[in-house]
Parts: sequence; structure tokens; C-alpha cells
Amino acid sequence: MQVAQTSNFGVLGTGVVGQTISSRLIALGYHVRMGARQAGNEKAAAWVKAAGASASEGTYADAANFGSVIFNCTSGSGTLAALGAAKADNLRDKILVDISNPLDFSKGMPPSLFTPTGDSLAEQIQRAYPSTRVVKALNTITASVMVEPTRVGGGEHDVFVCGNDAAAKAQVAALLRDGFGWKTVHDFGDITGARALEGYVLFWVRAWATLGTAEFNLRLVR
Ligand SMILES: NC(=O)c1ccc[n+]([C@@H]2O[C@H](COP(=O)([O-])OP(=O)(O)OC[C@H]3O[C@@H](n4cnc5c(N)ncnc54)[C@H](OP(=O)(O)O)[C@@H]3O)[C@@H](O)[C@H]2O)c1
Repeated sequence: MQVAQTSNFGVLGTGVVGQTISSRLIALGYHVRMGARQAGNEKAAAWVKAAGASASEGTYADAANFGSVIFNCTSGSGTLAALGAAKADNLRDKILVDISNPLDFSKGMPPSLFTPTGDSLAEQIQRAYPSTRVVKALNTITASVMVEPTRVGGGEHDVFVCGNDAAAKAQVAALLRDGFGWKTVHDFGDITGARALEGYVLFWVRAWATLGTAEFNLRLVR
């Protein structure tokens, strides 16, 4: 099933989010290259071995060069360094789906945000790479639910996108709906909408502690 206008994706990050997104894209029939600080990263190599012939791994630059759509699944504190290593030339004019959260764990739990009020990590990315079509998405949901919304409440809950490029947002929303199974994708406007989506994660962490599970989500009801 082809639900995106590309067959090659680059995924930056080897953690649970990078692995979950990458595996879902492979299941949809795409080619995926997972990027890490160094080629041959242990987690990336293990993922490739399990994921099969459409999977490959390399440096952040290798993955960004390979993908015509790129997912940023690196830790918030490492995101700008990871994108620097991915190299501006490999990001130019491409869609970058940013799943990261600017979490600051320096004072322990619960975390705070390292971005100042009136800014967001997605905006910092967009400012650093002006021609890159940054779309903030999926950062409000735990990894397992990102690609399988029916794990919670029969799938009757919501995901959000924001970004400055309407066509990029539409392409990401189509992938979320037709590829990942989301019923409701809210357009939160331009990239400044990321202030709300990233700020929401403070609420998310509190709810996680209260509910005792990461598998929950919210639904906007009028
Ligand atoms: N976990 C979830 O369910 C969830 C849900 C929503 C959003 N998110 C967000 O999604 C992102 C990924 O989360 P995660 O839990 O999969 O993994 P994570 O532990 O937050 O991040 C893992 C990745 O970040 C890379 N990284 C860390 N510091 C770096 C640096 N200084 N330079 C370059 N790369 C660096 C790691 O590389 P190494 O392997 O080399 O250390 C690894 O590939 C995070 O921003 C997180 O806040 C996570």
C-alpha cells in the first residue's frame, strides 16, 4: 500500500520511537534507512536484521540523504546536533516530521521544557533549516499508539499536525490516516502550534503517572 508520495524514508534515531515508526513504514511497503551518530549502531543493525531487505542503516547524514521524507526521532536535547550531523544539504526542501520533545530531565522527574516560553523545538528546527518543510506530529502519544491507535479507546482519539507548509502537512496527515490508522488529524496551524503540542507533554507526563500507563490519549470534543 503506498500512502505517501515517496518510497524512501529516513528515520533519525534508534530508540523506541525510531524503531516503531521504521517498522510501521516497512510494513507499509516503503524503504527505510535508520540513522544514528555512527554507522553500524548496535540498535540500528539489530533492527535492520529483523526488518528485512527494505531496511538499511547508516549515519544521520546517510539516512537523511536516503529519505525524501525524514522522521526526527532523536531525543529533544540531541535533536539539533543530530540534524547538524544529518547536514543541511540532505534536509533541503524535504519534509521533516518532528516527533521530538524538548524535555529537560536535569532536575529529575517530572521533566520541564528546555525551550523558553514563546518558542518550541520545532520552531528552532524550522529557523535553522528554513527550506526544510517541518511538520510537528505524533509527539503527544506514546510510541506503540502512534502506529496503532486502536490500542486505546477503539481508536476514537486525536492526533495533531502543525507546520508552515500546507502541502507537507497534508502529506503527513494522509500518512497518519491511511498508513498509521488515525481517524482524526487536527491541523494546529503553522509551526508555532508546536508550542502547544510540546507544552502538552507536561500534562502527558502527569497523566502517565496518574493513570499508570503510557497508552492513553485525548480527544477534542466540542
Ligand atoms: N518514547 C515515546 O513513546 C515518545 C513519545 C512521544 C515523543 N517522544 C519523543 O521522541 C524522541 C525519541 O524518543 P525515544 O524514546 O525513542 O528515544 P530517546 O532516548 O529520547 O532518543 C534516542 C535517540 O536520540 C539520539 N541522541 C541522543 N542524544 C543525541 C545527541 N547529542 N546527538 C545525536 N543524537 C542523539 C540517540 O542516539 P544514541 O543511540 O547514539 O544514544 C537515539 O538515537 C524524543 O524526542 C522523545 O521525547 C517519545
